Amino acid sequence: MSFLAAFIDRQFIHNKPPLPTASFKGQTIIVTGASSGLGLEACKHLVRMGASQIILACRNIDKANTAVKSVQATTTCPSNVLKASVLAFSDRVKAKLPRVDVVLANAGLHTLSSK
Ligand SMILES: NC(=O)c1ccc[n+]([C@@H]2O[C@H](COP(=O)([O-])OP(=O)(O)OC[C@H]3O[C@@H](n4cnc5c(N)ncnc54)[C@H](OP(=O)(O)O)[C@@H]3O)[C@@H](O)[C@H]2O)c1
Repeated sequence: MSFLAAFIDRQFIHNKPPLPTASFKGQTIIVTGASSGLGLEACKHLVRMGASQIILACRNIDKANTAVKSVQATTTCPSNVLKASVLAFSDRVKAKLPRVDVVLANAGLHTLSSK
């Protein structure tokens, strides 16, 4: 298949990438920018891969709570696995979390400007 044909083919829904199969069993994971997009979808995968605690670090607590509900609605996730959190969470991380295994630093946006 030519490069152009392969590119066009990849735009269709039948070409879903394989589901990741790594295990995050027992791990505590912080996901920034978890209120929408890739961060939110990553949280759903991390639940499926067995993380024992996922902290959805967002800049707006209402959005974070909505994201938690969205993950709970689409996964079989025990209610104590997901935590909504805002910027002040960094102090709580230092003070209260016994461990952090992964930080998925996803928050951000792409702009056309380099400034
Ligand atoms: N989607 C793609 O195809 C693609 C491709 C390459 C790279 N990426 C990168 O992957 C990341 C996520 O992309 P996405 O498509 O999932 O984006 P998205 O749907 O726009 O989500 C961005 C997330 O980051 C948060 N965020 C944005 N600016 C922030 C800031 N200044 N401080 C704190 N949080 C901030 C947003 O929070 P709010 O809800 O509060 O706005 C939201 O939760 C981005 O860094 C993007 O550049 C995406």
